[in-house]
Amino acid sequence: DGLNARAVAAGKLYFGSATDNGELSDSAYVAGLSNWADFGQLTPGNALKWDSIEPSRDSFSYANGDTIVDLAAKNGQKLRCHTLVWHNQLPSWLTSGGFDNATLITILKNHITNEVTHYKGKCLHWDVVNEAFEEDGTWRSSVFYNTIGPSFVPIAFAAAAAADPDVKLYYNDYNIENAGGKSTSTQNLVKLVKQYGVKIDGVGLQSHFIVGSTPSQSAQQSNMQAFIDLGVEVAVTELDIRTDTPATSSAVNQQAKDYASTIAACKAVAKCVGVTIWDYTDKYSWIPSVFSGQGSALPWDENLKKKDSIYNAILSAW
Ligand code: XIL
Repeated sequence: DGLNARAVAAGKLYFGSATDNGELSDSAYVAGLSNWADFGQLTPGNALKWDSIEPSRDSFSYANGDTIVDLAAKNGQKLRCHTLVWHNQLPSWLTSGGFDNATLITILKNHITNEVTHYKGKCLHWDVVNEAFEEDGTWRSSVFYNTIGPSFVPIAFAAAAAADPDVKLYYNDYNIENAGGKSTSTQNLVKLVKQYGVKIDGVGLQSHFIVGSTPSQSAQQSNMQAFIDLGVEVAVTELDIRTDTPATSSAVNQQAKDYASTIAACKAVAKCVGVTIWDYTDKYSWIPSVFSGQGSALPWDENLKKKDSIYNAILSAW
């Protein structure tokens, strides 16, 4: 029994965790991560991003990515491959190259073709484009949008589809987990890609939540359904629920309920295929380094000890 075993029993493809190369020398951590009963899926947290994969133009480095792909294969775990096109973690040759429209399209296609071909047959999902919108739902300023315009999105999905026709192609973003301008813009992005005659299979709801202000289960479900009505599936891709540290016992109680409502929403929506937490232990969470004074966001603590109330809330919500 475990978090993944329950997800599979509920008809989902997986419950999984992000991980990162630097953590893999911690053998106690790896033992927990490799327990299929809890984790049936891995997402490389950084290894597949542009700056890791193509640090100089047309020179590709797959060693870190391959390490995590091989670990997942050894453990019998599925893989979400993350991410091909994002405004962050780009190499400076790309951001400061001053490339014109035609050249940047060539660079974009070359990157995607090379990376998707390298991992062909290994990934269940690819996050093709990540975080294309600002908080108000307008297009985010990025080297891709500023140079190519909105068509960088269908161009990216078309290149990924050509390189691996079998992998499910996802758009992934945060603050699109309930109705609002950013979710509506993401629905329009799905329509845009389809209008180009290009395949898009899914939308990833990152779900970086805050204890006590997590969208309700029904709000999450109806938002998932709005995407599904456009002909795509959904997945919860980067779930964590942060709070001020040190966490109070009332915060931990609320947090257990908040975790349960996301799991229950995914369970209730047939085309929500799985849930991934953004690493499983506070020891390796990205939250404290980005949100000052916050953390305690995951079901295992800094000492790799399971937090029973949160673990059991997830278990019974499945
Ligand atoms: C984060 C990683 O976890 C950190 O290690 C890194 O320093 C920054 O990126 N949304 C995403 C992820 O799509 O790629 C981000 O991952 C977290 C927010």
